[in-house]
Amino acid sequence: MLDVQHMISRYGPVTALHDASFTLEGGEALALVGTNGAGKTTLVMSIAGHVIPESGHVILDNENITEIPSHIRARRGIGLVPEGRRVFPDLTVKENLITGGYVLPRSSEQQRLNDVYDIFPRLHERANQLAGSLSGGEQQMLAFGRAIMLNPKVMLIDEISLGLMPKVINECYAVLEKLREKNISIILVDQNSDAALSFADKAIWLESGHVKWQGLARDCPLSKGSAVY
Ligand SMILES: Nc1ncnc2c1ncn2[C@@H]1O[C@H](COP(=O)(O)OP(=O)(O)O)[C@@H](O)[C@H]1O
Ligand SMILES: [Mg+2]
Repeated sequence: MLDVQHMISRYGPVTALHDASFTLEGGEALALVGTNGAGKTTLVMSIAGHVIPESGHVILDNENITEIPSHIRARRGIGLVPEGRRVFPDLTVKENLITGGYVLPRSSEQQRLNDVYDIFPRLHERANQLAGSLSGGEQQMLAFGRAIMLNPKVMLIDEISLGLMPKVINECYAVLEKLREKNISIILVDQNSDAALSFADKAIWLESGHVKWQGLARDCPLSKGSAVY
């Protein structure tokens, strides 16, 4: 379903991602692990179309989307929950959700809003509140909601648990589980690599932009369950 091959991305002279390839079926989850600066965000942003890779390709449901801009990728079903959430603090919860899905037809907007409110009743309660007044956990839920407004086929979630309380982190993973049940593919970065690896099916371990290891998440050398941990 999602097929990423030989992705190489650079920022000027810095090659941040040397050669990453993977495939992901509907409902499968991939964890990207590795220390700061490993290239996780670069890979996420290259798939979302915010970083233009030097080479490689991204194919979603047999369509080559490598060359198409990020907002069209969003329309094709690439949902992004960026690091730091990036909600609009001066817009209401509802306005944030609507802007999240603005690339899709207005005719389906109310239905998509209802879908988000079903998953996050708290966002419904706070629909008219400014996003800047929400807690960190609620802002993360809103960031999820903005991506879900796109009816995504793939969800990219960067640094899911950054700055959140353990209880809220558990809630985030419960939402991921729901998305997985809806056959949405998930690409996940979590500074707590154990949490990401125990959720995911597959894993890629990046170091300095190189794929150091990839395979089934439960076999990842960084996993506590692994024999080489
Ligand atoms: N906008 C940018 N301009 C220049 N270098 C960048 C930029 N973003 C990231 N980098 C560099 O690319 C490398 C990978 O960074 P990143 O993908 O953010 O890693 P991670 O998300 O794993 O921490 C690092 O060396 C980082 O300094
Ligand atoms: Mg990062």
